[in-house]
Amino acid sequence: MFKKILLIGALGQIGSELLAELRKIYGAENVIAADKKTNPPEKIVNAGPFENIDICHKDSLVAIVKKYNIDCILNMAAILSATGEQRPKLAWNVNMNGFINVLDVAVEYKMKQVLVPSSIAVFGPETPKNAPQETILKPTTMYGITKVAGELLGNYCVKKFGLDVRGLRFPGIISNETLPGGGTTDYAVAIYYEAVKNKKYTCFVKEDTRLPMMYMPDCLKATIDLLQADFSKLKHHCDFNVGAMSFTVKELADSIKKHIPEFHVTYEPDYRQQIADTWPDSVDDSAARQEWGWKPDFNLEAMTADMLKVIGEKHKQGLI
Ligand code: NAD
Ligand code: SER
Repeated sequence: MFKKILLIGALGQIGSELLAELRKIYGAENVIAADKKTNPPEKIVNAGPFENIDICHKDSLVAIVKKYNIDCILNMAAILSATGEQRPKLAWNVNMNGFINVLDVAVEYKMKQVLVPSSIAVFGPETPKNAPQETILKPTTMYGITKVAGELLGNYCVKKFGLDVRGLRFPGIISNETLPGGGTTDYAVAIYYEAVKNKKYTCFVKEDTRLPMMYMPDCLKATIDLLQADFSKLKHHCDFNVGAMSFTVKELADSIKKHIPEFHVTYEPDYRQQIADTWPDSVDDSAARQEWGWKPDFNLEAMTADMLKVIGEKHKQGLI
């Protein structure tokens, strides 16, 4: 289907695990990892091609596309919500101007497909708490603004240029390989590491904060299923809601306490509370289910058992 895939943002929380999955499916030499970071871990460099890239510089993107004859780009490079509120112009530059470069190059070099994640951050305080597929999109963060504009731009390219652009609105992603990169939902990852290492955690949002979340294996499955979906069956393109689970911090802590009874959480909400308060509790993902068969595998209890097992093993081996 694709001859050469370029995965941008390959050293990030999602990119680093997606890279391994794509290389299993398409062959290591056919998936080119690229990131702005200049220090890729050896296991990534040794496993297949790696290139330094800044998507804000179109020339560096063009050079890689030409060098490898790329026909599909997955763009995981972004500035997430919490960092985006601290550095809004950087978020605009990477998430908008960088993404426009990706779309320009994809049109110019006739890519078969571009896939870019969107986020629950497209929603805002006026969105219903179980966010419908079609709803009010008035985010109050710079990250959310760039994600709404990115969805619209991607959909525009489908109509205007016949470019196959796809995207899905991820909830908070929870994982145990690469730490998250500056989002509001990062507490839902940190809590597991602190539970294993110190049996206590100070959370930066309140205990009744409820958000939609997803475990990494489901995030990888959703991405690859959408990548491989039959284009003719898609009515939506860059804005699929995808859900998996929804919980408060207290419910998350209680699921950990079933394994580590002495675990204790204290709460010191900071600026990220205001961001979390503008996002929905859950999403209606029936369009993704109908159009490309989306169905998650993990609920909170299954995810907690797996997270604690993997992180516990790393702790025993002195890796964290
Ligand atoms: P991350 O911050 O962990 O990784 C992003 C990667 O992009 C980093 O390795 C970074 O070095 C790289 N990058 C940043 N600027 C770049 C540039 N100018 N050029 C090239 N590379 C650059 O992010 P992530 O969590 O892996 O997110 C991947 C995608 O998924 C993003 O579009 C994000 O908005 C979306 N998303 C993530 C979550 C989540 O919970 N992780 C939730 C919803 C949506
Ligand atoms: N996890 C992401 C964030 O908190 C949601 O897009 O920014």
